[in-house]
Amino acid sequence: AIHPVILSGGSGTRLWPLSRECRPKQLHCLIGSESLLQETAARAAEWSAPLIVSNEEHRFQIAEQMRQAGIAPRALIIEPSARNTAPAAAVAALLLAEEDPSARMLVMPSDHAIRDVAAFRAAVEACAAAVGDDRLACLGVTPTRPHTGYGYVERTPEPVAPGVASIVRFVEKPDAARAAEFIESGNFLWNAGIFLFPVAAYLDALAEYRPEMLELCHAAVEEGTRDLDFLRLAEAPFSRIDGDSIDYAVMEHAKDALVAELDAGWSDIGSWSSLHEESPSDPSGNALVGDVTAMDCTGSYLRSDSRLLVAIGLEDLVVVAEDDAVLVARKGEDQRVKDAVADLKARG
Ligand code: GDD
Ligand code: MG
Repeated sequence: AIHPVILSGGSGTRLWPLSRECRPKQLHCLIGSESLLQETAARAAEWSAPLIVSNEEHRFQIAEQMRQAGIAPRALIIEPSARNTAPAAAVAALLLAEEDPSARMLVMPSDHAIRDVAAFRAAVEACAAAVGDDRLACLGVTPTRPHTGYGYVERTPEPVAPGVASIVRFVEKPDAARAAEFIESGNFLWNAGIFLFPVAAYLDALAEYRPEMLELCHAAVEEGTRDLDFLRLAEAPFSRIDGDSIDYAVMEHAKDALVAELDAGWSDIGSWSSLHEESPSDPSGNALVGDVTAMDCTGSYLRSDSRLLVAIGLEDLVVVAEDDAVLVARKGEDQRVKDAVADLKARG
């Protein structure tokens, strides 16, 4: 069986003022009537009940959203602090290995959109058939521009199975020049951030590349508190972990890893502009969400969740009105929302 593991520990600051620490983007309904987390869980629930790795603050919101979606998680793992994705995947692997050391896990971010669920499932199945017992794999997406926020995967020209190739090298978040070079060469895919790992193979890889991290994860699980449907990791060992992502800690070093092509309308909704691209638009290219009236606007994302927003003559803008904050940004500049939020935080 494939065991879904959903990572829900990030805060998605580029989608401020909607996405906040107390309610990050994966817990919001950004496109349809379900949250990104609910959509993620629904995409995978047919394989088996998902394990969700998150934190104390979001625990009840997650449980409530799963209840609404009619999905009973296998367990909720609660991290005392965020240590990035490699430890989150490791504690899930340790838990799964207790029951079945030959289990394979599908590690998924909680904050992506995928339009074609059938194509997603087919890519995962193809990948699962190819990994066997000992290979690590990720899903790869055909790149469209030299984005510097993604991992790049160079694949062999010859596939090992339909849609699946060996990874020549994995480069996490290259600078702009290298990213452009990779796109030019044509052999690279973006890492979609979705991984298929035989749990034993992932734990072996960590033992090799980050033994201290694995040991602390082990202690955090062993000394953790368990209840029927949750595991609260022990704080002392977990907080000593030197946090790192799956990409840097494992994938950049992994030998014999595989990449399966994902052609399913994938988007990581990394900014308001990318959410705009994924949202239904009117004939002038505006996405109007919530209580919004627009006159003579073009190419704009206009959202107001709690009060009337009237927009006149806007062009290529993002306007997001929340109760306590309003964002107005030129499209294309909206990657800088992250910096603005960091500034706000620094000022207190
Ligand atoms: N439980 C838990 N704990 N989850 C976490 C933590 C943590 O400490 N940190 C991040 N996450 C979750 C986020 O909520 C998100 O769903 C997922 O893990 C990925 O983390 P991001 O922080 O969004 O990673 P990224 O976008 O910078 O990069 C990754 O995704 C790209 C595709 O979107 C990498 O895998 C890249 O290589 C990839 O291209
Ligand atoms: Mg991300």
